[in-house]
Amino acid sequence: MKKAWWKEAIVYQIYPRSFCDSNGDGIGDLNGITSKLDYLKELGIDVIWLSPVYKSPNDDNGYDISDYEAIMTEFGNMDDFDKMLSEAHKRGIKIVMDLVVNHTSDEHPWFVESRSSKDNPKRDYYIWKEGKNGKEPNNWGSAFSGPAWKYDEKTDMYYLHLFSTKQPDLNWENQKVRKEVFDMMTRWCKKGIDGFRMDVISLISKPEGFPDAKVVGLYGDMNICANGPKVHDYLKEMNQKVLSKFDIMTVGETAGVTLDEAKRYANSEGSELNMVFQFEHMNLDSGEKFKWSTKHIPLVPLKENLTKWQLGLDDVAWNSLYFCNHDQPRIVSRLGDDSDEFRELSAKCIATCLHMMQGTPYVYQGEELGMTNTVFNSVDDFRDLESVNAYRELIESGLYTKEDMFPKIAHKSRDNARTPMPWDTSENAGFTTGIPWLALNPNYNKINVADQLKREDSVFHYYQKLIKLRKEYEIIVYGKYELLLPDDEHIFAYVRTLGNQKLLVVCNFSKTEQKFDFSGYENAKVLISNYDGNISEKATLKPYSAIALLLDNAQKM
Ligand code: NOJ
Repeated sequence: MKKAWWKEAIVYQIYPRSFCDSNGDGIGDLNGITSKLDYLKELGIDVIWLSPVYKSPNDDNGYDISDYEAIMTEFGNMDDFDKMLSEAHKRGIKIVMDLVVNHTSDEHPWFVESRSSKDNPKRDYYIWKEGKNGKEPNNWGSAFSGPAWKYDEKTDMYYLHLFSTKQPDLNWENQKVRKEVFDMMTRWCKKGIDGFRMDVISLISKPEGFPDAKVVGLYGDMNICANGPKVHDYLKEMNQKVLSKFDIMTVGETAGVTLDEAKRYANSEGSELNMVFQFEHMNLDSGEKFKWSTKHIPLVPLKENLTKWQLGLDDVAWNSLYFCNHDQPRIVSRLGDDSDEFRELSAKCIATCLHMMQGTPYVYQGEELGMTNTVFNSVDDFRDLESVNAYRELIESGLYTKEDMFPKIAHKSRDNARTPMPWDTSENAGFTTGIPWLALNPNYNKINVADQLKREDSVFHYYQKLIKLRKEYEIIVYGKYELLLPDDEHIFAYVRTLGNQKLLVVCNFSKTEQKFDFSGYENAKVLISNYDGNISEKATLKPYSAIALLLDNAQKM
């Protein structure tokens, strides 16, 4: 397998709004990030993926950009950015920017011009259509409720917005749009940034003729736009014109990606992107029609799914390994057990299972502390437009009652991931001296950085160790993967193989003891374990136990 620095790297995602506030306005900022770079260095990560920091009216917390080359006022300015970048580089940490180019903000000057008249030169920068019988051009729904089309009185036409009405979709068919985007990317690369995480990049090419889509829930499924007819042409063009000219890392957020499509996006010839973010494993706890539910992620389908991606991309493409990001509720509450008794154990078990796989691991801020979902007392506690809109729409539609819907939203809301980072036990957890834009998780007295840095057995130190192991043992990065016990409902176990080495990973995803046969591994070295690591007793797996064992010479087996 071809080696590459981005295959060996560990990425840490920062959601700047919630990371660290340096000026007391209740909103995290760039100087706040700079002040915590030593913390990230101590954790051992190599790359930061920064959620968007560009100028934005913040309808979707920065995923609605009004200027790609200015910094969001609340986050600071370009000098602060340059300082953050150079301080990160001094510490050997790279910075990957979020690239949101499926859509812009409706306040972006391009859109302001585009909507001003039908013959404006920028009209065709966006997707405008006539209505059909006084209604939307087709039945597509937006990811944030309601139809994906908004009527604009000024020119008596509709524009497409797969996300909020303030996020109009760019028209990638237009060569001028592509040039604007590629030139902007080139300028950022020349500034010295280290790569791009590409927001919903699988949606940029819309299906020809804009046909109605199959109705899921209330509207036609916007995923009809996923992996559209020209997406690979556009990415190849981007690769030739920009990406191939710099030594950068690229990851595509690819909603609706299939294994076959992923092999194209992240092909090992390098003609498109380095790796993809797929979502199948994150959808395993969805409700029937919508993502909203109170379910736990089921283990057998999870094993089946992750195994499919491990085997499917081996040698031909590259996986991103993740359980958490700013759109996902906290994994300890979804897959582990967030009670005091099992929170830390299950956080470590989940981490072991993910970090020993093939792919580039992503740690989302607070995941390294084992952060949990938060507590919502009323619908007024939500800030995320997705949650607020869905709650309103699904109740108004009569599909759910308030009583049904509230626990579902509380369990799956993106705000669970966005509560401010708990640095210590002081007021507002040391995140801000002002009023935080979103309430802290009330458990910050128990789960915070200061406590975990002090404790040798903390989740933080466990992550630190996992990260270090990946740098010490090539088998963790490049080894082949094989699943054991596919039907076991409690144990996730697999073997990685590289040359004469074997790495056995065994995780008990239950709060009861389980049996496992370790024969052949009696002389193996314990790389990591969340109990005492004594293998002779490991025939019984303790609740949420995890262990990784290295057998250095396969002949010994
Ligand atoms: C995916 C991003 O991760 C999410 O936060 C955002 O709301 C949508 N894309 C729209 O940009």
